[in-house]
Amino acid sequence: MITADNLPETTRDGKFDLVAYLKAKQQLCEAALEKALPMQYPETIYEAMRYSLLAGGKRLRPILCLATTEMLGGTTDMAMPTACALEMIHTMSLIHDDLPAMDNDDYRRGKLTNHKVYGEDIAILAGDGLLAYAFEYIAAQTQNVPPQQVLQVIAKLGKAVGAAGLVGGQVVDLESEGKSDTSLKTLNYIHRHKTGALLEICVVSGGVLAGGTPEDLQRLSAYAQNIGLAFQIIDDILDITATQEKLGKSIGKDQQAQKVTYPSLWGIEESKKQAEQLIAEACAQLKPFGEKAQPLLALGHFIVSRDR
Ligand code: FPP
Ligand code: MG
Repeated sequence: MITADNLPETTRDGKFDLVAYLKAKQQLCEAALEKALPMQYPETIYEAMRYSLLAGGKRLRPILCLATTEMLGGTTDMAMPTACALEMIHTMSLIHDDLPAMDNDDYRRGKLTNHKVYGEDIAILAGDGLLAYAFEYIAAQTQNVPPQQVLQVIAKLGKAVGAAGLVGGQVVDLESEGKSDTSLKTLNYIHRHKTGALLEICVVSGGVLAGGTPEDLQRLSAYAQNIGLAFQIIDDILDITATQEKLGKSIGKDQQAQKVTYPSLWGIEESKKQAEQLIAEACAQLKPFGEKAQPLLALGHFIVSRDR
């Protein structure tokens, strides 16, 4: 079994090996998530929460948190409870996003969506359960981090997922369905909040846990905001170009919902260029961190080159 102490080599020929790095970190996250949420009474709700939380996925959000803590000299153990909480919140946002009242989707991560298996009532509660547990988990399980820093993570996370963040972005997204005159400003608002806010707190929380300076946190925010927007541009492109098998969820939904997207405004080629430009700007922010920034630099490039 892979643990924090026996991670496989993540450099090959002197070069950072992102594939090995992701594999090792994914395994650590899977084990930590499994341990974080054991089955118990009432089984129905724990089963529904575990169904979506343990359904695989890239685990990009927890890995961003771990990578940032480690870049600033912290340890995996310091960041793992927050990393797990970030995946719990990401998962709950997808459970709710897939509900009939929102995107009404049948598949997620290659499996039937939560409400298709457990019904809408339990799916709503599974999301609520994961959201509440995420905050409990950070507060109760974080060790070897000064309490003031843990409190800062909790406060920033609350802001990132509430009406000033994810929830606000989702509301404007829902309101913009069927409106072909949605402006670039509104589109940026949606994605900076719906997707960007969570990616930003993944990186920033890692920085806070490791005791980053205000300047470090500023640079981390800028890095994360840029990769967040690039991530969304690529998501929009994949909704047009990828297959359902590859993505594990239905495709072509943006067009169906008559949503304005980056490719619908700029075309696919220009959208790719914009995403690459954003990643270049993101990576420039990490210069002062030198060699230690390799995982975050590689993750940035992975985001624009991903095909699922
Ligand atoms: C997927 O977007 C959905 C999100 C990124 C977040 C949605 C947010 C909510 C439902 C609010 C959740 C509540 C809290 C408290 C955080 P998409 O529909 O564009 O992508 P998809 O194709 O993967 O469904
Ligand atoms: Mg959706």
